[in-house]
Amino acid sequence: MKPILSISNIHAGYNDKPILEGVTLHVNKGEVVALLGHNGAGKTTLLKTIYGLITPTQGKLETNGKVVYVPQGIRVFPNLTVKENILIVADTKVIPEHIFELFPVLKHKEHSHAGNLSGGEQQMVALARAIIQTPDILLLDEPSLGLSPKLVKEVFEILEVLREKYNYTILVVEHNVLSLSKILDRAYILEKGKVKKEIDDVSHLSQDIV
Ligand SMILES: Nc1ncnc2c1ncn2[C@@H]1O[C@H](COP(=O)(O)OP(=O)(O)OP(=O)(O)O)[C@@H](O)[C@H]1O
Ligand SMILES: [Mg+2]
Repeated sequence: MKPILSISNIHAGYNDKPILEGVTLHVNKGEVVALLGHNGAGKTTLLKTIYGLITPTQGKLETNGKVVYVPQGIRVFPNLTVKENILIVADTKVIPEHIFELFPVLKHKEHSHAGNLSGGEQQMVALARAIIQTPDILLLDEPSLGLSPKLVKEVFEILEVLREKYNYTILVVEHNVLSLSKILDRAYILEKGKVKKEIDDVSHLSQDIV
């Protein structure tokens, strides 16, 4: 079967500053694949390129379905309510029940300003906004960034449900390698704009892999 995402020898960067220098990778339907690497390796740049925010200068990028991107750090529109934040990208006027099943913490906060939620709740809003778009592939940039260990666990539990129950295809950037390893199929390590290593057996991933 055709991969949902297929990237071959991609070069991309900012103005005249090359960052990605020949990245090749793929993600198959139903896979959860991690993109690992040090700060500045080009992980975010790669997700932006896949999503179409950056035009590659060279190489081939093929997506087979709807791509939804949850950026690093920026989570919600603080002055909009939770409901407005989630529905801003949706055709419907009501939040479907399965969203509340995934994110029970949002149930009684529909009308709260998203800016007043905790960091973890804001990340749930960002994930809900992504899920309501029914992605064929979900790009997540450090979903656990800045969250407490308890909330990190909750975020990864949601990713596990998306994988097990909804058969989601996910490409996720993370530094929290160990928490992630349970739900991963494969991983790529990015270094200086190139794939340094592809890991097909993630059962022995350790935190210092990068
Ligand atoms: N808007 C931008 N304009 C110019 N250079 C940028 C821009 N964004 C990122 N860069 C540079 O591109 C390189 C890769 O950055 P990128 O954000 O892709 O790294 P990253 O792997 O996501 O790092 P981190 O783990 O810290 O998020 C860095 O050297 C960074 O300074
Ligand atoms: Mg980044």
